[in-house]
Amino acid sequence: MKLTPDLQPDPLLHADKFVSQPYPRVDGRLKVTGSARYSAEFPVDGLTYAALVHSPIAKGKITALDTAAAEAVPGVLAVMTYLNAPRLQTPSYAYVVSMANPLAGSTTTLPIMQSAAITWNGQPVAVVVAETLALAQYAASLVHVRYEVETPRLTLAHHQDQAFKPDHVVLLPADVTKGDAEAALPLAPVRVDNLYTTPYLNHNAMEPHATTAKWDAAGRLTVYDSTQYPVGVQEALMEVFDLKTSEVRVITEFVGGAFGGKVAMWQNTPLAAAAARLVGRPVQLSLARASVNYLVGGRTTTEQRVALGATADGQLTAVIHSGYSMCTPDVYAEQFSVMARHQYAAPNIHSFQRVVELDRVQNSFMRAPGETPGSFALESAMDELAYALKMDPLALRRRNEPVRDPTEDTPFSSRHLLECYDQGARFFGWDPARPAPGTTQRGEWLVGTGVAGCYYPVQPLPATVRARLTPAGDVTVFTSSVEMGVGAATIQTQHIAERFGVAFERAHYVQGDTDLPQWRAMGGSAATASVGAAIRAAADKLTDELFKLAQADKDSPLHKAERGAVALRTGGLYLTSDPTTGVAYADLLAGQDKPFFEVEGSSPPPTEGAKYSMSSYGVHFCEVGVHADTREVRVRRFVTVMDCGRIVNPKTARSQIQGGIVMGLGMALMEESAYDERTGRLMNPDLGEYHVPVQADLPALDVHFLNLPDPHMTLGVKPVGEIGIVGSAAALANAVYHATGIRVRDLPITADKLL
Ligand code: MOS
Repeated sequence: MKLTPDLQPDPLLHADKFVSQPYPRVDGRLKVTGSARYSAEFPVDGLTYAALVHSPIAKGKITALDTAAAEAVPGVLAVMTYLNAPRLQTPSYAYVVSMANPLAGSTTTLPIMQSAAITWNGQPVAVVVAETLALAQYAASLVHVRYEVETPRLTLAHHQDQAFKPDHVVLLPADVTKGDAEAALPLAPVRVDNLYTTPYLNHNAMEPHATTAKWDAAGRLTVYDSTQYPVGVQEALMEVFDLKTSEVRVITEFVGGAFGGKVAMWQNTPLAAAAARLVGRPVQLSLARASVNYLVGGRTTTEQRVALGATADGQLTAVIHSGYSMCTPDVYAEQFSVMARHQYAAPNIHSFQRVVELDRVQNSFMRAPGETPGSFALESAMDELAYALKMDPLALRRRNEPVRDPTEDTPFSSRHLLECYDQGARFFGWDPARPAPGTTQRGEWLVGTGVAGCYYPVQPLPATVRARLTPAGDVTVFTSSVEMGVGAATIQTQHIAERFGVAFERAHYVQGDTDLPQWRAMGGSAATASVGAAIRAAADKLTDELFKLAQADKDSPLHKAERGAVALRTGGLYLTSDPTTGVAYADLLAGQDKPFFEVEGSSPPPTEGAKYSMSSYGVHFCEVGVHADTREVRVRRFVTVMDCGRIVNPKTARSQIQGGIVMGLGMALMEESAYDERTGRLMNPDLGEYHVPVQADLPALDVHFLNLPDPHMTLGVKPVGEIGIVGSAAALANAVYHATGIRVRDLPITADKLL
């Protein structure tokens, strides 16, 4: 199944009054003054605090639990284990996909503290609830658990014989074949055929996952939860506790970073609610950093084969991208092979994936799942092919730029990748005749440059909003969407001002509460378009209603106007041809027997069957220095040019791309969840040992946008949130090769691999 948005050309494409301007964040002041409330900061009467005890084994079962010492600590209210936890049903799996419900609520269907079975290292085995957090944490250290240990399955390499074909890779088929790439490959005059591996990566958002849960006397549950998807958490909690929609409310005012780790519900949220029911008081469970690492799954480890065949002048004849990722009993197959279906023209393409069930924490979404590890392999392989051809890697990419989607054979809705290559080469000063690898040294540093392309698809997801207009001319849009730090509230406020024709100060965006209209687009870089389409629909509906009022009033200057000749602008309904003829909101609403006007708008349902191939595209250029003796890698320069359609806010959009690149460079150089391959024990569940880039690791990240609207998207926008990470690790790896002559196909590129 492939979905495309079904949208009409957008009349706003040339307005640009509020949209396209670099507004500062509407919530910036709240955040820097500490007034923004996060999920562990809601004042609740009688609040108690919880801490988790995690399994140190990866597979087996609990044979004995000794909680007496913990329970004896004054101030401890309960120690919840599988023996005394309330009955908790397993909720629907997050990746069960249907048109009506693109994503359900839970990352896993494993039992939530209901049995003695242990299926991953770090599984929560006890929740200690106390009057203070310090007491809960101390008492948690006194809980003693005995286990019967079984041998866990831990690595892709050792269990590939049990690999199987997943039903789908996220929304897409697991296998796509065009022509016969395996037959074409050996016939190609020039070819590369290599394996690339990427490690498991843990989520480390600035705000750890946090939940404040309270039950009222009538049995209704309110949860303040650090999530990207309040409606998904609400639905999952309804299933876990057998409650109705009206009995569960999820509130998420702010999220301190998420990147996919908060797309769907992990066990911490139902455990907090269960503990609150057990002790009869509100419970706050704010995960310690180690608990995030143990309980919240991250990006799968991958092993990928990329084989490319080409003619002597660099025309691709065969593209093969295949490989393995992990799963648990729940299958989330990151679509790493998918970029190869869309990026380069070739008569023979074979893209397919298999999964291997392991006894590890459920792998899950992490920024551009699939495209991120996939682009490392594919774009490294393109670089390797360029060297094999003795060709400039940028020229190789230009040579194979498709005019239609290579596997779907559909036209592109918009694709300006060649222009990205041209601009990027100019800004970076790309030299098409670079010196040979390992031959450029400046002082103690070997210097090299690399290039890699990127792509991220449009994924239309449904959204509904309610818009309220007051006679004073304020417009407020309500949605259960969340602001996870990306700037969504700011850009949608710009959009509201533009659509409803009000000043920026009179446009308001209220979100993050399941009592508000539903939004189901919690990720996939889809919110700008999907919430934006709903806002647009609401503005259209308001125009209809106000137009009817004007028509009914024979004294109105719009009494005889055509519907198509009027629009919402400058605080009322006016003729588009003559902005002085019309009626102000206050006058339109005068005489109505209600204090405000409300309309709902929904994004149009996506249509099945692709008319267009719709994606964002871009290119990264990287210059590295590799120390000649220590082999330390320093990123010296980084230039990116993106084709992400119209840019609603250049400031917040640039931050998204830069943030993605930072994650990509972290993945390239240092990030790795290190599992002990004998026991499955996660050895680095903290930021002391799991390294992420800091400012000192990074040069200025020079990001440019073409800013060319896509004619088939609301507002002309295409995905921005995730594409920055795609290709960035390959750009760095390719630069490291050029600096040293050493090709590292196994991330991260640590100094030992360059000796
Ligand atoms: Mo994203 S990984 O869809 O939050």
